[in-house]
Amino acid sequence: MNENKSGVSRRGFLKKVTAAIYGLLTFMIGLPLFSFFVSPAFIKSKFKWIEIGAVDDFNSDTPLEVIYNKEIIDGWNKRTVLSTAWVFKSEGKLVALSPICTHLGCTVSFDEVRDSFACPCHGGLYDREGNVIGGPPPKPLKRHEIKFEDGKFLIGEPKDRSTSVT
Ligand code: FES
Repeated sequence: MNENKSGVSRRGFLKKVTAAIYGLLTFMIGLPLFSFFVSPAFIKSKFKWIEIGAVDDFNSDTPLEVIYNKEIIDGWNKRTVLSTAWVFKSEGKLVALSPICTHLGCTVSFDEVRDSFACPCHGGLYDREGNVIGGPPPKPLKRHEIKFEDGKFLIGEPKDRSTSVT
């Protein structure tokens, strides 16, 4: 047998080196494949800033329904859906309210006669600031984060009302 003083044969040494090389190659090829196929499942969709028009387009105290495209990333599935926000001036500041009722997620609309947002599903009613004034909704309507860039009006993720609005 061809052994050196440490008791490791040449054949044993070559087997170990070959196994190490195979392991390294498996890791080098497997890691990118694993990342490509599995990691999207753990990616959470992020709300990006979305331009909804020029700041000057929004001068009214009466809520205006703005329709915009929102990109949703859900695992490997990427799609664009139409979404809406209610935009108006409140005490001189622009506000963008989410139209999603905080009860069970129906879409509210603005009722000019009652000067409030009404939910068609279970009679939820919100004042023009989005505060609950009737029905089962447990929380006020969410407000979008907003920002202005080069005269453009951008909305961000809708947040609970405890979040400050700029
Ligand atoms: S979903 Fe709006 S009141 Fe129930």
